[in-house]
Amino acid sequence: MNLTIIGSGYVGLTTGACFANVGHHVMCVDNNPDKIAKLLNGEIPIYEPGLEEVVKNTVGAGRLRFTTSTEEGVDFGDVIFIAVPTPPQPDGSVDLRFIEKVAREISEVIKSYKVIVDKSTVPVKTGEKVADTIKRYQPEVAFDVVSNPEFLREGCAVDDLMHPDRIVIGTNSDRALALMQKVYEPFLAPILVTDINSAELIKHAANSFLALKISYINAVSQICEASGADVEKVAEGIGADKRIGRHFLNAGIGYGGSCFPKDIAAFIAISDQLGCPFTLLKEVQAINVNMMQRFLKTIREALWVLDDKKIAVWGLAFKNNTDDIRSSVAIELVQALLKEGAKVTVYDPKGMENAKQLSWAGQITFAESPMGCVDGAEALIVATEWPEFASQDFVEVKRRMLAPLIFDGRNLLDTTTMKDLGFRYTGIGRGVA
Ligand code: UGA
Repeated sequence: MNLTIIGSGYVGLTTGACFANVGHHVMCVDNNPDKIAKLLNGEIPIYEPGLEEVVKNTVGAGRLRFTTSTEEGVDFGDVIFIAVPTPPQPDGSVDLRFIEKVAREISEVIKSYKVIVDKSTVPVKTGEKVADTIKRYQPEVAFDVVSNPEFLREGCAVDDLMHPDRIVIGTNSDRALALMQKVYEPFLAPILVTDINSAELIKHAANSFLALKISYINAVSQICEASGADVEKVAEGIGADKRIGRHFLNAGIGYGGSCFPKDIAAFIAISDQLGCPFTLLKEVQAINVNMMQRFLKTIREALWVLDDKKIAVWGLAFKNNTDDIRSSVAIELVQALLKEGAKVTVYDPKGMENAKQLSWAGQITFAESPMGCVDGAEALIVATEWPEFASQDFVEVKRRMLAPLIFDGRNLLDTTTMKDLGFRYTGIGRGVA
């Protein structure tokens, strides 16, 4: 099939590349000429395992191409996916101006029947507005609007796209459904067909539920700390119940990234607008913020004064396997330490280049390795769950540090091992060893 993706950001590019990978012909559109020039030049603007290879292979096979022209894109595709940003507004609701703009642009150039698919994460009822907008500006040409939310995780997006748990197709049109089923046929995944509003809700409700699981275990971790229990064992025990599951029960300093914080705020906002305040999710947010504050308090209590102390931070990305530092708790933590006068040295396997672009990057020292980062440090903080941090030589880490203090914000290290090596080790919900 010929497919068009409007918006070649994280979701658009990976989705387009994976569609091309299964044999479709894909045109990725973006209004940023620099981005398109880079992509035409074979450069991938983000770090995502496996993506570069898929893009290279599919471009080489002539199935993936790039353009800045919406008209070219709309002419090309039988199905047009919208994957433009949906940033948050100060009150948490979603700024839908990019979606609206693309809807208008499509209405200006559409010449024959197309399926217009909302891939971006949007509040319920957005599909209806997209359809109204296109119809208002272009009443002549037939089209259908479909909601088809994405469930890919950064760091394993290619795998998530190639082997999805489920495909959600929200549509009221048999014609559109037939085309969408053809798009997804090669993926051999279960397809759930719903109305447009339900599909939009599935996305917000899924992300909110995952965040709720994280905040739940984080709240439990506080009770573990107060009672001397071990949150890792508790998570294992409750996660073994298949109805609950072990995934997303890793206690830590909170969730971050470009999805959870934004989507939960958006779900709260749309629920408010619909007259059904979702107060449970407000608590999920509050617990998340509180985890970072508690962690800082623990560090402060151990070090007394942070001013002028050299602190090593492992991790800047919002999670492992990505270079993405947007809404990263690790970044917030570094900022908080700097505010208290600490001299912060950081290391992250992939997130350093993005962090170097921050306006305040000059205040931190970027180390070239995890070992280089801990030289002379009075404390080591683990802020992102990169597995390679756990496999460091901790005898050498201890030798290099000024004082053997570790604060593990991701419960990545083994309590007993750290204790046996002579560290004062503090995790989340595991007590102090
Ligand atoms: C999330 C969802 O998992 C995807 O299904 C969804 O498609 C995506 O948002 C999106 O809306 O586009 P992502 O933001 O890439 O994916 O990252 P996650 O793997 O979900 O992690 C989010 C945050 O939660 C990270 O900061 C991570 O460190 C934290 N986390 C995760 C925990 O603190 N504990 C856990 O047990 C799991």
